[in-house]
Amino acid sequence: MKIAVDRVREGLEDLARFGGTPGEGVSRLVFSPADLLGRAYVKERMKGAGLNVSEDAIGNIFGTLPGTEPELAPVWTGSHIDTVLRGGRFDGMAGTIGAIEALRAIGEAGAPHRRTLTAVAYTGEEPSVFGIGCLGSRAMAGVLDLETAKAVKNEAGKSLYDTLAELGYDVDRLDAVRRKPGDVYAAIEMHIEQGPKLERSGCRLGVVTDISAPAYFNVWVEGLQSHAGGTSMADRRDAFAATAEISMVLERLVKEAKSVYATGTIGRVDVTPNALNVIPGRVHFTIDIRNTSDGSTGEILAALSEEMKRIERERGVKVRMQTINRDLPVHCEDGMQDLLAGICERRGIPFKRLISGAFHDSMFVGAFAPISMLFLPSRDGVSHCPEEWTSYEDVALGAEVLAEALLVKANE
Ligand code: GLV
Ligand code: MN
Ligand code: MN
Repeated sequence: MKIAVDRVREGLEDLARFGGTPGEGVSRLVFSPADLLGRAYVKERMKGAGLNVSEDAIGNIFGTLPGTEPELAPVWTGSHIDTVLRGGRFDGMAGTIGAIEALRAIGEAGAPHRRTLTAVAYTGEEPSVFGIGCLGSRAMAGVLDLETAKAVKNEAGKSLYDTLAELGYDVDRLDAVRRKPGDVYAAIEMHIEQGPKLERSGCRLGVVTDISAPAYFNVWVEGLQSHAGGTSMADRRDAFAATAEISMVLERLVKEAKSVYATGTIGRVDVTPNALNVIPGRVHFTIDIRNTSDGSTGEILAALSEEMKRIERERGVKVRMQTINRDLPVHCEDGMQDLLAGICERRGIPFKRLISGAFHDSMFVGAFAPISMLFLPSRDGVSHCPEEWTSYEDVALGAEVLAEALLVKANE
């Protein structure tokens, strides 16, 4: 199956226009005007590729290529098109455009397939707007219900529920989005690596073994706001100094964790009052822990909680921690890993097996279907930035391997 590089380039360049600014990357936050334009584009592109288009109550977009035995559970492939602020043009889009091009090629070649093939553009994979990611696939897995849709809000205080209702989605039917085991036969997501391993090892493709899951937390530290000069070091209850210590403790606990894939990040810190000559009285910050082992995450959290109690005692502050989400890591099905690896071997494509440190919609699809992921090299290993780049040739090559794997699964 040949995938035209020009088609891939066209799709990715077209999409990059929605929310893209030269030098500033792409900012296409979920349900922003740019995202709405991007979604309309995806639907048109799916139609142009000969797919039947539909959308569910949370805006997941489906482009289907009917199989000869449509009563069989379908095979899915796809990714997302929303981005982080000042993101790139490949994270999510490579797998969405790649899916459409793979299905277009299969349709045009008239390649026989028993099962229906479906290209999916999942809604809102990035947590940029509502604080939790994978909105569309999370709802499919039944982890995002109506109550959660009403509870999660954007910076302006508008809930996901109200956002969907305003856009005309039948959000009260969110239950219908849910899938159960057996509904989908298999799902393969193509995505950029967002790390340096493939490029460093000279590989053109990666076969993912496990998807690391995020656990997100809000933390509030309450100290005492006071005069920077008038308050002695012994007398102060500095909320930021306590936060700094928690950050060093988190780094140590994650580095010492049993799982070598554990990561810990404090990515957002709001200091009050944030003034040069005032001891911070209050700090809000976030914790992002990723891990391929939920047990290991549990051990980190238990140790962190003990350390927070010690810091409270020693520094005279109060620390409160709230879970935003604690998602579960997923193992990519061994059979599909071997299928993808076998195709690479046969075609002489240098590849390697690796874990995904980033999360993906496949993590939630994995709750109701066997999943696998195909990774593409990220130039200089960077992503979530304007410099994010993957060659169009690699995206097209990945889509060829994807198409071949989809046909195998669709004929099982
Ligand atoms: C998804 O983009 C992530 O942050 O892993
Ligand atoms: Mn991302
Ligand atoms: Mn992504």
